[in-house]
Amino acid sequence: MKKWKQKAIVQKVISYLPFSQKINYLFQRYVTKGVNLSEEYFLDRLGHAKEHIKGYQKITNNKVPQSCLEIGTGWYPIVPVSFFLTGADIIYSVDIAFLTSKERLQTTFQKFVDCNKAGQLKDFIDFIPERFDVITSLMVDYDKYSLKDILAMLNITYLIEDARHLSLADNSINLVNSNNTFEHIYPEILIPILKEFRRVVKKQGGVMSHFIDMSDHFAHFDKSINIYNFLQFDDKQWRWIDNSIQPQSRIRIYDYKQIYSDLNIPVSEETFRPGNMNELKAIPLSEKYTSKPLEETAISHCHFISDMSTVG
Ligand SMILES: C[S@@+](CC[C@H](N)C(=O)[O-])C[C@H]1O[C@@H](n2cnc3c(N)ncnc32)[C@H](O)[C@@H]1O
Repeated sequence: MKKWKQKAIVQKVISYLPFSQKINYLFQRYVTKGVNLSEEYFLDRLGHAKEHIKGYQKITNNKVPQSCLEIGTGWYPIVPVSFFLTGADIIYSVDIAFLTSKERLQTTFQKFVDCNKAGQLKDFIDFIPERFDVITSLMVDYDKYSLKDILAMLNITYLIEDARHLSLADNSINLVNSNNTFEHIYPEILIPILKEFRRVVKKQGGVMSHFIDMSDHFAHFDKSINIYNFLQFDDKQWRWIDNSIQPQSRIRIYDYKQIYSDLNIPVSEETFRPGNMNELKAIPLSEKYTSKPLEETAISHCHFISDMSTVG
């Protein structure tokens, strides 16, 4: 049986167990090795932080977003720490599960320290040296600090809540962002989340910036399939395969654009990776993916930046 099918079965079973997120972490850490903080992952997310800040600066002419919110930070808070280093004062991370830990924060900090030592960090973020000193001094005597102290020193607050119902005031956030998260949220949940983001983001000087990875995530792990493999299944078949710990909605760039348009959220800046037409053509596509031009279905990643000052 192909590796991706084995993983799908294991995740499906885990999704029905109590403490499924914790069990999934252990499964990914020790079996699929999908949660170790690799250099590639670190630099990729650092690149996202760079693009969020660049997009924010371009739209607002301000250097630093004072208040930021990320949905679905995951195990390693690379983007929130980047925002701290560039000067943000209020940084929220919203997730339904608390996925980081003191140990994973330390791993994250070590990556920042190593990246700076290698002279690479400045190529990604224009960090404030005094803010970087906070991290280096923390690392000297790490055990002395509690997780709560560490997060407070970094201006980071974790909100463990459903992003459809945020405990934040209207009009209070300069930059709302996400990284490789929207693809895991089905439209019936994503739409209310976007409405909530529209509520909390500042209508003057507010920006939204979202990176979406529309590739089949099983292909990241099983190199015998390509990134469009999941598009062969119809919705009924996919419901059997998909699981609640790492769901994949499979929606394409045109679907996201339709959702944005329906909610009157502009796509002010857009970049995307075109994907690979030959790989897409190798998949017997389910009917729902054949109604749009194949070039659009093939787009594998996109980044939308929205100038929220144009939203009423
Ligand atoms: C795949 S992970 C994000 C990965 C991470 N951002 C990265 O760059 O690797 C998606 C996250 O979104 C969170 N999430 C899903 N639905 C949510 C909701 N309604 N409210 C808040 N968080 C949600 C999940 O719990 C999960 O931690």
